[in-house]
Amino acid sequence: MTEIVRIENLHKSFGPLEVLKGIDLTVDSGETVVLLGSSGSGKSTLLRCVNFMETPSEGQVSLHGELVGSENNGGMQYRERELCKLRTRIGMVFQHFNLFPHMTVLGNVMEGQVTVLGRSKPEAEDKARQQLERVGLADKAEEYPARLSGGQKQRVAIARALAMDPDVMLFDEVTSALDPELVGEVLKTMRQLAEEGMTMLVVTHELGFAYHVANRVLFLHEGTILEQGEPQKVLKDPETTRMREFLEGHSLFKLPD
Ligand SMILES: Nc1ncnc2c1ncn2[C@@H]1O[C@H](COP(=O)(O)OP(=O)(O)OP(=O)(O)O)[C@@H](O)[C@H]1O
Ligand SMILES: [Mg+2]
Repeated sequence: MTEIVRIENLHKSFGPLEVLKGIDLTVDSGETVVLLGSSGSGKSTLLRCVNFMETPSEGQVSLHGELVGSENNGGMQYRERELCKLRTRIGMVFQHFNLFPHMTVLGNVMEGQVTVLGRSKPEAEDKARQQLERVGLADKAEEYPARLSGGQKQRVAIARALAMDPDVMLFDEVTSALDPELVGEVLKTMRQLAEEGMTMLVVTHELGFAYHVANRVLFLHEGTILEQGEPQKVLKDPETTRMREFLEGHSLFKLPD
């Protein structure tokens, strides 16, 4: 297995608040890892540290075996140029899709390819159309975001991230802001990506997705990984009271027998 992301002893504090307290995590090529945890446990902070939207306070992140930043006096030092390049290799999709309203769907999926990767317009357009096809929105290419449903907008955001040919995709509660009837189509797209072998680190409260799609589930509690393992084990037979309580809070979800 090729290791895509390796996180070692990651700490992150905001002033006196220590949010991440020593996280170790690897994500292998083609693996889907789901990160669960209650509100405030540090899930978003962890994802943001993986693509260096937040700089870790301590610890290391490697991508494809390459250490990000350089060691200096026992700590890590990061250069903005290196981080910019790194971010193009990591696709990130958030709860709020932030599409450009004045651009068509096609324009939105082309934009980063042209401005960041320097692709020619025809090349970017080809790629954009392929990715829109992949998320089932080929027929919406000429539409403006305002005329799409929330689920469709979120799939455009996924296509936009995929168009950059990322090594890994990070998803942060991408279905949380959607009307319940639109959640399924986005989860289906994500499941399809997982089946195609995309490497994914997914924060979600959709336990059904975790159960059926994840190779591994992690439970983050107060800044540390309290439990991890195969979904069938972690979700059905958790070891800690915390994890059990968390799952009980999601009682709408019925696990298959
Ligand atoms: N930029 C910041 N400055 C100060 N505190 C922050 C910052 N970002 C996050 N925090 C704090 O860090 C803690 C963890 O936040 P984080 O957003 O990572 O949690 P989360 O697990 O993603 O929660 P949620 O499920 O609500 O999205 C919270 O107490 C939050 O207030
Ligand atoms: Mg969050």
